[in-house]
Amino acid sequence: MSQLNVNIDHVATLRQARLVEEPDPVWAAVECELGGAAGITMHLREDRRHIQPRDVRLVRQTAAVKVNLEMAMTEAMIRFAVQLKPDQVTLVPEKRRELTTEGGLDCVRQQRRLAAAVRRLRKAGIEVSAFIAPTADQAAAAADAGCQAVELHTGAYANARGPAAIARCLRALETGRDAAWQRNLIVHAGHGLNYRNIGPVAQIEALADFNIGHSIIARSVFVGLRQATRQMIELLGAYGGPSGIE
Ligand code: PXP
Repeated sequence: MSQLNVNIDHVATLRQARLVEEPDPVWAAVECELGGAAGITMHLREDRRHIQPRDVRLVRQTAAVKVNLEMAMTEAMIRFAVQLKPDQVTLVPEKRRELTTEGGLDCVRQQRRLAAAVRRLRKAGIEVSAFIAPTADQAAAAADAGCQAVELHTGAYANARGPAAIARCLRALETGRDAAWQRNLIVHAGHGLNYRNIGPVAQIEALADFNIGHSIIARSVFVGLRQATRQMIELLGAYGGPSGIE
């Protein structure tokens, strides 16, 4: 059964625009939970452009739902995570100049470094997922490095225009899922998903978690975060995911 983790980074983006105290991502996490989210996702970036260490610590202490920390595979971040012990870490590539995470982690080229990071995180009791392009070789390399899960990058699907390109991207996601399944990995998905494009992806069988941020936070400006969360859950439910909450 699929579940929704709301990525609350852009609540922090708005706060950091003025370097003040509001809106507080900790409040946002509560609203997402009240809207039925199964988890909260945050990306603590090296440049600290949105989420701050304080946010992650407080959400970890207060959220009753799953906490998924997105992070780069750096020594400082590994130490932070081992101390914080989120339920899950999602390892992502990080470039300073990017607007958002652009590509998947190259688990093939970075397999040794990845395996060392995964070992330390798992020893701390943290479930480790790698954000990957939906290909068989990336899924296999993530499994070989000891990851328990992968998050399939849906950015290419979200950017695809025209039925043929969209169908090609959906097939790629299924290929990635199948390869991950063969290696007994849990399969999540995320990036660029919104209220208009979620349908076909939600129909892909047996995706576990959807990590969705920008579109939900954008809609929350108009309908509130609790309602925006609820609406996304309803769409996931309508296409075969959970029925959401009342
Ligand atoms: N999954 C990962 C690994 C991400 O890096 C991001 C963006 O932070 C998301 C999901 C959410 O993407 P979006 O904000 O486009 O929904």
